[in-house]
Amino acid sequence: KRKPSRRGSMADVPHDIKQEIKRLEELFTVDTAKLKGITEHFISELAKGLSKEGGSIPMNPTWCMGFPTGHETGTFLALDMGGTNLRVCEIRLPEEVGEFDIIQSKYHMPEELKTGTADELWGYIADCLQQFIEYHHEGERLDKLPLGFTFSYPATQEYIDHGILQRWTKGFDIDGVEGKDVVPPFQAAVAERNIPIRLTALINDTTGTLIASSYTDSEMKIGCIFGTGCNAAYMEECGQIPKLEHMKLDPKQPIAINCEWGAFDNEHQVLPRTQYDIIIDKDSPRPGQQSFEKMIAGLYLGELFRLVLVDLNENPNVKIFHGQDIAALKKPYSLDASFLSDIENDPYENLQETYDRFKTHLKIECARPELELIRRLCELIGTRAARLSACGVAAICKKKGYETAHVGADGSVFNKYPHFKQRGAAALAEILDWTVGRDGKPLGRGHDPVEILPAEDGSGVGAALIAALTLKRVQEGSY
Ligand code: GLC
Repeated sequence: KRKPSRRGSMADVPHDIKQEIKRLEELFTVDTAKLKGITEHFISELAKGLSKEGGSIPMNPTWCMGFPTGHETGTFLALDMGGTNLRVCEIRLPEEVGEFDIIQSKYHMPEELKTGTADELWGYIADCLQQFIEYHHEGERLDKLPLGFTFSYPATQEYIDHGILQRWTKGFDIDGVEGKDVVPPFQAAVAERNIPIRLTALINDTTGTLIASSYTDSEMKIGCIFGTGCNAAYMEECGQIPKLEHMKLDPKQPIAINCEWGAFDNEHQVLPRTQYDIIIDKDSPRPGQQSFEKMIAGLYLGELFRLVLVDLNENPNVKIFHGQDIAALKKPYSLDASFLSDIENDPYENLQETYDRFKTHLKIECARPELELIRRLCELIGTRAARLSACGVAAICKKKGYETAHVGADGSVFNKYPHFKQRGAAALAEILDWTVGRDGKPLGRGHDPVEILPAEDGSGVGAALIAALTLKRVQEGSY
């Protein structure tokens, strides 16, 4: 039986594994010059997305017109359909500025639903809503509650309670939804069950994050999600959006733009894609789409890691896990990003947790050199994701001329992946050439000119705030 050696150092690592680690380091490392090049290209793609001709980044106007004042009040429901779970929230915005109360229930989103039929999807979502209302408002006679629906996929919106799904992302593949407004079938499922709600706003999680974070922090300029998917939203002026010119809007009127930056570089001009990224894309339900997202988002990190290991097992020069049955490792999408997080958190000295995980989950016993390669691979994949995502943040800041800003971020990768925040901050400093903090003090938390900070709950509180802002505009006759 092979056991991890307690002592081992790189000196004990066989030559070919050491060589392989070096090759992986070269493959996955994105240096400063490359980051800068990607950022410059990103800036031009942001502009293209706003142009009449359009580009590969959709840059969707969301009809969320400006930031909250902090004085929004009322009770709202929020329905959060992200990539992994379904959540229903009830949010009360009291008189006190910037305050809120929230109750919520999470529902599992069965894997089959993601590739099932549209009727099953809308039926399931409406059932969860109904369950929530019956549980929290049993026997009450309710007036119709306004609902913010956080539908976190690219949608073309002509107004705020409308949204034509451009394409599924994050592994969803349900027929008959793309190219159509998602609101009517959702409302039909709600009406069938007599659920007392009124859909007020259809929003993206990034827009929700931007709005919820700005509710408590007036320096918030960008909302980001680094989770199952990866995307950002920011506030643009209507006058800067050529594709809205025909609407003759006030040029100074702010409107939130959902970038859908996951689609950045779909034409493969700048991103340093590896053979493994190419396989992920080819085997996904939507090849050729979401190129940037597929190198960064939580849905893909574990798969990248798995593909590299399978390749190294088959590579005659390296042959990791030699002589062992790697059937479990060969199963696509069997490892999620938390598997990598746990490895990165494992004390390097003996990598015991890593050894145990491979043994129990994958029935593979790793020798110390293999454990070291595994650990380094996680660091490389996690670091590349954080550094690439910093290019998007830097591009928005440069486009808008923000010298200082807060960026509100949410999602499992941002919140749970070890060192993601620090790696992203380091990359931002390299791209934007910072040497000192905004206050002249050394760079670091609280001093970096642009800081990516944990956001308020965008898909819940953000959806409620946008619903409140929408109702206010309706009352004022602005819609
Ligand atoms: C995917 C979706 C996008 C969402 C992001 C984060 O990129 O297309 O709408 O914001 O995931 O959930």
